[in-house]
Amino acid sequence: MEKDEREVAGVRCVEQTRIRRLNERVGEEVEIRGWLYNKRSSGKIHFLILRDGSGLAQAVVARGRVDEETFDLCGRLSQESSVIVRGVVREEPRAPGGHELELKDLRVVQMAEDYPIKLKEHGVDFLMDNRHLWIRAPRQGAILRIRAEIIRAIREYLDAGDFVHVDTPLLTPAACEGTTTLFETNYFEDKAYLAQSGQLYNEATIAALGRVYCFGPAFRAEKSKTRRHLIEFWMVEPEAAFCDFEENMAIQEGLITHVVRSVLGNRKADLDLIERDTGPLEKVEPPFPRITYDEALDRLRNSGRDIRWGDDLGAPDETEISGQFDRPVFVTHFPAVMKAFYMKPDPGRPEVVLGADLLAPEGYGEIIGGGERIDDLATIERRMKEHGLPEETYRWYTDLRRYGSAPHSGFGLGIERTVAWVCGLEHVRESIAFPRMLYRVYP
Ligand code: 4AD
Ligand code: MG
Repeated sequence: MEKDEREVAGVRCVEQTRIRRLNERVGEEVEIRGWLYNKRSSGKIHFLILRDGSGLAQAVVARGRVDEETFDLCGRLSQESSVIVRGVVREEPRAPGGHELELKDLRVVQMAEDYPIKLKEHGVDFLMDNRHLWIRAPRQGAILRIRAEIIRAIREYLDAGDFVHVDTPLLTPAACEGTTTLFETNYFEDKAYLAQSGQLYNEATIAALGRVYCFGPAFRAEKSKTRRHLIEFWMVEPEAAFCDFEENMAIQEGLITHVVRSVLGNRKADLDLIERDTGPLEKVEPPFPRITYDEALDRLRNSGRDIRWGDDLGAPDETEISGQFDRPVFVTHFPAVMKAFYMKPDPGRPEVVLGADLLAPEGYGEIIGGGERIDDLATIERRMKEHGLPEETYRWYTDLRRYGSAPHSGFGLGIERTVAWVCGLEHVRESIAFPRMLYRVYP
């Protein structure tokens, strides 16, 4: 097979030619391995639209320019057949990707059976049943590449900020985010739960490493069927020792700004492909506005919503508030009664906590939850009692307040909600290759 020699991360290596790099090969004969996405034909000429995962390219073949057998084969090629195509690269501004191949040779690796997803509109249930095929659509590919860029940028930012990546367990003996959404599983003679968050373990590793983050799947048996909820989602959770509530928000501002700039800078073609209006993303610059929970209630009441102090902000409330700002907005100082047991009460007003949610603009709502943690033993023990959490299971966690406790803060950023916002998606289901949703675990 034909190879393309280039440098990857400073090392010379041999690679296959990819469509995304055709601009470097104008005038040369190359070999592209991929799938037939679409085809336009007249009696005299075929246009084959190929995809290889990096982009789309058009291969053109006119009758008489190749042998008759190859020309006929091009005409018979079915949607999603896997092929190896040789051709000469030339610039063609009207073609997808800006280049086209003058086809010299075609090898069919497998002639696809009648492909269920036609190039027309389909219903969401049908597409979800065929998610294993739907991900091949150019739009879905672009979203998955943007997701990968978001994750790359997150890690780049945290690594540069001296946060050490630590993996936290997925099988856990106890709850982090409330006992009502736990997935239970057998652990030999015992019970264990799928992790809802790595935070409690991060609170231990900061005493070893200072600043850490975990990045993994989180599981919540939430009976929520909304456009923002998944049963299994991915979360990055930074945690830092000697870090207060304000500093924690500054880290979030920096992280989100870097993520958005990275996608704008490195994934412009994909944003164009999915027709994302980048205007709102270009406005994402620190500082982000901060409003308290009390101010949020005033704003909601002013826009006609009936909400009482102590009520959680629902998705429509968050949509209303985030729609009032042109950049992400922090909502701070929530009532302690509605938040997790570990959140630190505000010393000046103990009925509220030093916790903040970051709401994404354009009505997207919460993408981050975080805040300062209780660092004193008596308070954490009291809060755990109030939440009915068994002392024995959390003994290791309270130890952290016995041996060198320090003020500390952290947060959790949901990847799928961030992807949904950055890509302007209607629903989180498209933000991950295989979403796990209420009543859907296939494919
Ligand atoms: O607000 P949450 O529940 O916070 C925690 O889990 C903390 N332990 C994080 C921390 O401080 N280390 O979840 C954090 C974020 C949410 O803002 C949201 O983006 C995402 O995780 N998230 C979900 N995403 C998709 N589906 C769900 N069911 C989600 N639940 C939370
Ligand atoms: Mg939350």
